[in-house]
Amino acid sequence: MKMITNETEPMELFETLAQLREETLASIEEAADLDALDAVEAGAVGRESAIASARRGLGQMDAERRRDAGRMINEIARDIEAAAAVRREQLAKEARAAVIAAEAIDVTVDYVSVPSGRIHPIQQVIDEVCDIFIGLGYHIAEGPEAELAWYNFDALNTPPDHPGRLESDTMYLDYGNPEDEMLLRAHTSPVQARYMEEHGPPVYIVAPGKAYRNDTVDATHLPVFHQIEGLAVDESITFSDLKGTLAEFARQFFGPTTRVRLRPHFFPFTEPSAELDVSCFNCDGGESSCRVCKGVGWLEMLGCGMVDPRVFDAVGYDSEAVTGFAFGMGVERLAMVRHGIDSIRHFVDYDVRFLEQFPG
Ligand code: DAH
Repeated sequence: MKMITNETEPMELFETLAQLREETLASIEEAADLDALDAVEAGAVGRESAIASARRGLGQMDAERRRDAGRMINEIARDIEAAAAVRREQLAKEARAAVIAAEAIDVTVDYVSVPSGRIHPIQQVIDEVCDIFIGLGYHIAEGPEAELAWYNFDALNTPPDHPGRLESDTMYLDYGNPEDEMLLRAHTSPVQARYMEEHGPPVYIVAPGKAYRNDTVDATHLPVFHQIEGLAVDESITFSDLKGTLAEFARQFFGPTTRVRLRPHFFPFTEPSAELDVSCFNCDGGESSCRVCKGVGWLEMLGCGMVDPRVFDAVGYDSEAVTGFAFGMGVERLAMVRHGIDSIRHFVDYDVRFLEQFPG
């Protein structure tokens, strides 16, 4: 806009201001967002605007002209500011509506529900048992399922004529001498020998995993099943450490009032050897009609014993310097006893109605 001076004709000033007003109101209407609107408004009435420079020119006018010109300028500035305020409110409303539209959720729309997976009850028991032993200071160890006969039998003091070595019991992959004869491990006990070969004492490990036997499937047997092996070796481990450790495990797994008892047994790799029974968690040993223990009051749980010195010799430990205990438990049996499951076959039938009962 032209500079206003004392010579500026009122008509000329009026036309110039009227044109500015029309152009600015049109731009305000067209402003697409708040930033554009701010720019239009600043250009029309801000510090560096045409209106501002018109106001600065008023000083050079005589009093009468100044009054008329000043009123005209103020009116136009007010019109522009009012129009900008209306447009600002409108733009803000549109922006809010756009956010609401973009974030809207139609709660009536049908959704696709993806069934969530679960941890298999066998793995749940493995996790739970391992957690209990980790709490007692044990580490987890693992070994191969395709195993050398030496680790499965010989290192564990099992003689060449032991019936467990027959093909009717053990699945062989390759025949030969114990050092190169391959089989599918018949228990998790070979992990004991492998671990001790690699690590010096003290040893506190549990080793979960699969075991394989030439068994026909029935309510209590599968040719592939799971065991958890345990081994503690230190300078002065005694039989009472074995009993105390397994009693603590039984209390944590079956409940705080659980009692344990040991019955003499035989395993080639422990001497003395025992089987551990736990008091029935269902009837606490008190009911002849109990469906869990069938009135016996006790449940057979696992095999255990003091590590035979010959096992220490086989893995290069000094059998004069250390003692230890070992144990091995069947995971399927633990799960069946705990949940009252009548057939081991359920674990491998992959019937989701069965599996869904163990949410974990
Ligand atoms: N390996 C034995 C089995 O499969 C179970 C067992 C018994 C493991 C006594 C042990 C043990 O470590 O000390 O029947």
